[in-house]
Amino acid sequence: NGDVRVNGIKENGTDAEEVKTPFLIGVAGGTASGKSTVCKRIMEQLGQADMDHTQRQVVCISQDSFYRELTEAEKAKAKKGLFNFDHPDAFNEKLMYDTLQSILAGKIVEIPSYDYRSNSRDFENKLTIYPADVVLFEGILVFYFPAIRDLFHMKLFVDTDSDTRLARRVPRDINERGRDLDQVLTQYMTFVKPAFEEFCSPTKKFADVIIPRGADNTVAIDLIVHHIGEILRPGGCTANAAPIIQLKRRDRE
Ligand code: ADP
Ligand code: C5P
Ligand code: MG
Repeated sequence: NGDVRVNGIKENGTDAEEVKTPFLIGVAGGTASGKSTVCKRIMEQLGQADMDHTQRQVVCISQDSFYRELTEAEKAKAKKGLFNFDHPDAFNEKLMYDTLQSILAGKIVEIPSYDYRSNSRDFENKLTIYPADVVLFEGILVFYFPAIRDLFHMKLFVDTDSDTRLARRVPRDINERGRDLDQVLTQYMTFVKPAFEEFCSPTKKFADVIIPRGADNTVAIDLIVHHIGEILRPGGCTANAAPIIQLKRRDRE
């Protein structure tokens, strides 16, 4: 049923595999700062991008999967770019917290992807997260909610200037998210920019590492990849990680 037992409890008297609670990395930053791209680079450089889940040691999930369901009235607003998707209230904080707790407990969790065209969670395309050694959780407000912020063992903030972010967001939203130019610009000026200043930017102070220029910053990405590589190394040390939990992972056996 996907549960794993904690504290090294043995099954049938056989040895429990000794593994650690996943090392959870939060990746925050403004819209189009390069969070998703930075996470992709980290996975690629660790040779994890195309790996089978049974072998995979690093996984990445997005905060978008935790947008709350909209009412019919909100859906109508969202279609016109008049719903505030950049406000903390747009997210299901409890679901996000509970899911991260399950991941930290080594459980298998299923996470819907997000469909920007319908502004809703896409349960047809679920991502199954198997226990991994490192979990990246990326999104604009991953450091906003204190209880969630406290779950991370490492916090990265992708810091790309606003002009660059807008210049990247416009073509991305038109080409990949089914929006038109007017809608993207209206939404940006009405909600995205003010919410960035009020809710996202102030969370930069919680970061352990700030990555200026996002994915262009190959030096910063190399340093982070090196650090994660150390954690993944057999016998590797998770230094300041949460108390080590012994987990038995049935799915790897
Ligand atoms: P975020 O996840 O923070 O919103 P993305 O990684 O999706 O940001 O990047 C936003 C857009 O900018 C995407 O279309 C992406 O391909 C592009 N992009 C990201 N980083 C760079 C970069 N360093 N140079 C050029 N384009 C980039
Ligand atoms: O990938 P990125 O960090 O840009 O994703 C977050 C952004 O997605 C937010 O700034 C929000 O305005 C936008 N969004 C949207 N429509 C949705 C959900 C989120 O435009 N349905
Ligand atoms: Mg993204």
